[in-house]
Amino acid sequence: MATTIRRATPQDSPAVGEVFLAARATMTYLPRLHSDDETRSHFKGVVEAKEAWVAERDGKVVGFAVVDGGWLEHLYVHPSRFNTGTGTKLFAQATAQHPQGFQFWAFQQNAGARRFYERHGCALVRLTNGADNEEKVPDALYVWPAKIKSTP
Ligand SMILES: CC(C)(COP(=O)(O)OP(=O)(O)OC[C@H]1O[C@@H](n2cnc3c(N)ncnc32)[C@H](O)[C@@H]1OP(=O)(O)O)[C@@H](O)C(=O)NCCC(=O)NCCS
Repeated sequence: MATTIRRATPQDSPAVGEVFLAARATMTYLPRLHSDDETRSHFKGVVEAKEAWVAERDGKVVGFAVVDGGWLEHLYVHPSRFNTGTGTKLFAQATAQHPQGFQFWAFQQNAGARRFYERHGCALVRLTNGADNEEKVPDALYVWPAKIKSTP
């Protein structure tokens, strides 16, 4: 069956939390700052309050994206579905909903995601030393589409 994209509902928040935890577990360069339960509870609030989209396959949530206030805040795919076009579908949904553009952060070490974004028409704005993010890990600010300017 195909993977489809739909708006998330509050009932999706446990599955969204599980996708995040599984995808984050592959990002071994990040410190673990929160317990799994804190993360689940955080995503309950995110899904309830913000524009969230889920990728669904065989009735299961396999990825999600959150866009808020001109920022793509999250784009995560379950590792069992990495490299199967799910991230591309979620990113396409975000761009279709926000043709005026958005900005987002990626960790500098996340070479795969940076390649993904650069292939999808995003432009690198600047690199940081990570002092301003929660993890204190160097990150990279991007915009989509490449021609727009980032705002402070
Ligand atoms: C980055 C991510 C959203 C891409 O979604 P996807 O469904 O795997 O991607 P698609 O199949 O549509 O496109 C494939 C491309 O995604 C990227 N990608 C694939 N697996 C990846 C991984 N484990 N981590 C980071 N990027 C990955 C690569 O650029 C890949 O293409 P290439 O290796 O042939 O150059 C997804 O891999 C993911 O959730 N990774 C972990 C979490 C993450 O890094 N999120 C982004 C935070 S800024």
